[in-house]
Amino acid sequence: MAEHAELTYEGKKFTLPVIIGTEGEKAIDISMLREETGLITLDAGFANTGSCISTITFMDGEKGVLRYRGIPVEQLAEYSLFIETTYLLINGVLPTRKQLTDFSILLNDNSLIHEDMQSFFQSFPRASHPMGILSSMVTALRSFYPELKVETAEEINLTVTRLLSKIRTLAAMSYKISRGHKVVYPRPDLSYCANFLNMMFDSPVKPYQIDDDLVKALNVFWILHADHEQNCSSSTVRMVGSGRVNLYAAISAGIAALWGPLHGGANQAVVEMLTRINRKDGGNVKKAVERAKDKKDSFRLMGFGHRVYKTYDPRAKIMKMTCDNILEKLHTSDPLLDIAKKLEDVALKDDYFLEHNLYPNIDFYSGIMLRALGIPTNMFTVMFAIGRLPGWIAQWKESADDPKWKLSRPRQIYNGPILTDYIPIDERKKQHTDSRHKTHR
Ligand code: ACO
Repeated sequence: MAEHAELTYEGKKFTLPVIIGTEGEKAIDISMLREETGLITLDAGFANTGSCISTITFMDGEKGVLRYRGIPVEQLAEYSLFIETTYLLINGVLPTRKQLTDFSILLNDNSLIHEDMQSFFQSFPRASHPMGILSSMVTALRSFYPELKVETAEEINLTVTRLLSKIRTLAAMSYKISRGHKVVYPRPDLSYCANFLNMMFDSPVKPYQIDDDLVKALNVFWILHADHEQNCSSSTVRMVGSGRVNLYAAISAGIAALWGPLHGGANQAVVEMLTRINRKDGGNVKKAVERAKDKKDSFRLMGFGHRVYKTYDPRAKIMKMTCDNILEKLHTSDPLLDIAKKLEDVALKDDYFLEHNLYPNIDFYSGIMLRALGIPTNMFTVMFAIGRLPGWIAQWKESADDPKWKLSRPRQIYNGPILTDYIPIDERKKQHTDSRHKTHR
């Protein structure tokens, strides 16, 4: 008999199949559990729940391994370009030279934004967070560029290319408009990353000088963010997509999920934390470490810890190296990088962090790199979103193509009041409200 697990419940034995992945990962298939036993499984935060079988990204949190379609992220960061990695994630294989050229042409052809969309930006209050704006604008894209019939592969490809190309124009446009500056249009002679930097920073009074090292750093940044299997935002894209919603809406939901400080918003939170340590605590990193350990204090060391990695995040290693290289190349230093390194040093020698397997994650150094590129802090998570877009699309596409596609619909254990009669309003006494709901950290 194939590998299986046995469950004994109420004196009966049930056999559950074990699924084994190509890297030896194992899962108990519980899809028939409720039908056969009346039981469901309960797993807060889905920490032990596999939601799909996927061929896109492999990670080993214990060993610090990350591979896209089997290729180590270290190799992609060194040799690939972001659009090549994007092609790999979405199509499953590295492109030939011709395929890559065709893909670049398509991205260029679709890089403009409908002019009417510019007026949307003007209507957001000045203090709006760029992630909220981006999420709304991506949903709005659907009204300007509706899919005709989602069934054909060609139309899906067009929507995918539009999203990949326009997201970077939208992000740069929102930055320019927020500063009250004239929008810079994409240029056909520039690569994906160079084009983005130019749209962000070119100005009629100060033409932007494209620097190949900065372009390379941005390529690396986006490659490192391109996918991370079933994280919070990718699972959101799959879940929202499972209702067969259009791709724009699914991606918009992913952007909203990424915004949170425990997920993609951590890159902004890290820089804010390091700035506070620098300005308010005079660079005292020990104080931050002590606060992070104090269970009475809701403070956490941002950029530390990860649901899957129980060792150093392989992306953080590359990001730290890229920060060093870029700052050296720019002949500059950043006090926040020095504080980050000191903080890492102290935390990694601390028993609490060792016992809890808390190591720097990608966000610990990524904000410092973005600062070096000139990206404003409130745009950091938008930069993450542009990078994660290929992953979201690949995850959406894989679930959409799955012949066993199912509407995502978890169950629950109900623990509320049992059957209770409705009381007319005049007969109600002052109700005792349940105070068990605690505020989040
Ligand atoms: N600082 C201090 N303590 C921490 C931290 C931290 N950054 N992260 C986890 N812990 C502690 C918790 O207090 C808890 O301690 P306890 O068991 O003694 O009560 C234990 O480690 C486990 O924490 P959980 O929150 O249960 O772990 P989970 O796997 O759910 O959390 C998460 C992962 C959310 C990333 C967490 O480590 C965290 O909040 N980190 C800071 C935010 C951050 O950097 N997020 C970016 C993650 S990467 C990404 O999404 C791109």
